[in-house]
Amino acid sequence: MTFDDIANPGKQMPNPAGNGSTMLRTVNLKKIYTTEEVETTALDGVNIDINEKEFVAIMGPSGCGKSTLLNIFGLLDNPSGGEYHFLNEEVSKYTERQRAKMRKANIGFVFQSFNLIDELTVFENVELPLLYLGVPASERKKMAEEGLERMPKMHRKDHFPQQLSGGQQQRVAVSRAVVAKPALILADEPTGNLDSANGEEVMNILTQLNEAGTTIVMVTHSPHDSEFAHRTIHLFDGHVVTENYKEKFHV
Ligand SMILES: Nc1ncnc2c1ncn2[C@@H]1O[C@H](COP(=O)(O)OP(=O)(O)O)[C@@H](O)[C@H]1O
Ligand SMILES: [Mg+2]
Repeated sequence: MTFDDIANPGKQMPNPAGNGSTMLRTVNLKKIYTTEEVETTALDGVNIDINEKEFVAIMGPSGCGKSTLLNIFGLLDNPSGGEYHFLNEEVSKYTERQRAKMRKANIGFVFQSFNLIDELTVFENVELPLLYLGVPASERKKMAEEGLERMPKMHRKDHFPQQLSGGQQQRVAVSRAVVAKPALILADEPTGNLDSANGEEVMNILTQLNEAGTTIVMVTHSPHDSEFAHRTIHLFDGHVVTENYKEKFHV
């Protein structure tokens, strides 16, 4: 199934969510945080399948485990139990080194608080993931230029993050997330610090990236933003409580 199929609601859609091949799957996933005083069960048996090219929203009250789940999806942290299959590899017990290699090659992140590096210019921030990947300098420049050119209203590549508005900073963060052309983008409340106009623009950019084939998993508190996704997964107390597929998709 192609994005034409998704973008054209008149067509027959045998599987509305992605192209049918699994990108990530969790089996009875658990995460327990242990500090000196307390044990917190953040994820308590989560079973989720997400297909390539899907756009999935994750919702639920504060503290229900959304960020924990996204961190595990993003290979930033290991689960305490259960399985996590990413691109057909069971990665739940990978070392930090193994996770980093897989993460850099396949995953881009967008955070609520932008997380740009203040000491680096816009251009240098966007170039950074390519530096980590060992892309040669000339190629890096070209890819970072292209990434920024695709972003609307992004002509301030020599400015520093603090000189930009929140909306501009998030566009830079999205450019940085996609510069290495990752198969998966993970976004944790990407519009949480933005006004509605800038939030809408970020959602439109994510939608375009999804239509171009990128899988997107986005945590959001906003029912409006979740409407951009093909499917919304609701978490409560570390469990999946419901999953809703959209009947029609935003174009
Ligand atoms: N690093 C951590 N150490 C200890 N407890 C944590 C840590 N991160 C999250 N938690 C706890 O795990 C639960 C889930 O947190 P989180 O995944 O951040 O929820 P959400 O993103 O849905 O608000 C909460 O009770 C939170 O306090
Ligand atoms: Mg969170």
